[in-house]
Amino acid sequence: MRCIDWAGDRVRLLDQTCLPSDEVWLELSDHGSVIAAIKEMRIRGAPAIGVAGAYAVVLAAQQLRGAGSKAAFVAQLDTAAQEIANARPTGANLAWAVRRMIDVAHKAASPEAALTALTAEARAIQRQDEEANRRMGRLGADLLPAGAVLTHCNTGFLATGGYGTALGVILTAWCDGKLKHVYATETRPLLQGARLTAWELARAGAEATLLPDSAAGELMRRGKVQSAIVGADRIAANGDTANKIGTYVLAVLAKEHRIPFYIAAPTSTVDMTISSGREINVEERAPEEVTHLAGQRVAAQGVSVFNTAFDVTPAKYIAAIVTERGVAAPPYEASLKTLMESRDG
Ligand code: MRU
Repeated sequence: MRCIDWAGDRVRLLDQTCLPSDEVWLELSDHGSVIAAIKEMRIRGAPAIGVAGAYAVVLAAQQLRGAGSKAAFVAQLDTAAQEIANARPTGANLAWAVRRMIDVAHKAASPEAALTALTAEARAIQRQDEEANRRMGRLGADLLPAGAVLTHCNTGFLATGGYGTALGVILTAWCDGKLKHVYATETRPLLQGARLTAWELARAGAEATLLPDSAAGELMRRGKVQSAIVGADRIAANGDTANKIGTYVLAVLAKEHRIPFYIAAPTSTVDMTISSGREINVEERAPEEVTHLAGQRVAAQGVSVFNTAFDVTPAKYIAAIVTERGVAAPPYEASLKTLMESRDG
């Protein structure tokens, strides 16, 4: 199952703002519409945003192929690519995918050749993400202790090129018969857990329980979970990890309760250009996401809002980072460097 795909000359994507009540597929044929869909979180999750960004570059190339010389085409494509890469700032995968696409465009002999090569590259980015997820699923499932697991936000096929990162690990372990239960946080304010993860778990037939974000401490204190696993939007060279707001709280609570706290993310999420989480640009989003529920104001008028979309979990709270190239263990400076320098497999 995929939440995004290339449909010959346009992108098809499942509008995640309508889930779980309606399955609405959008067909987008210009890169501006894809940028809007990313900003409005119709497609979300760092790897899925990366795939959407790659297809957006193809759409821009489609529009610009009549721009004249190869130099004029590439110059205009660079400008469009910059706009695409800036759609959401925190996830590493978007800028990574757009850079990969632009390298392809620069190497092509003509605009027409570039368009063919870019289409193939975007499809390869999606296929490789899905393959990476399946490898992570196996590695992570072998790592998870038996029993019940806690997860946060949505990291399944809806958040990726296909299959899922942390949720891929969970579903692999579920199919192995290793997991007896999955606990998913609601994930305030946009409820990715309640709307999307609960929906994916139900479709997969996994036994799941939804909890308010603030109930995680009590869940752990009662000994209900044996591990926690989440995805990542950007991982610094020292293992500090940006992920959906609330991840940091869960990681600290897990340490207090001696529950291993894992990250699952493809190497396209690892940013070796930054030494620590202090350098991560954390997205701030509109106050209405907190003050309103389903379009209805629930907060008192006039109150100010702290709506940072992500937080940064220091590496010391993370028991291991599962990637498609292997499992990194602390100290992450050394293990991530080794993994990033290694080849797949
Ligand atoms: O704001 P979102 O919904 O895009 O945030 C998504 C997350 O934080 C995910 O945990 C992360 O992108 C990993 S998705 C495989």
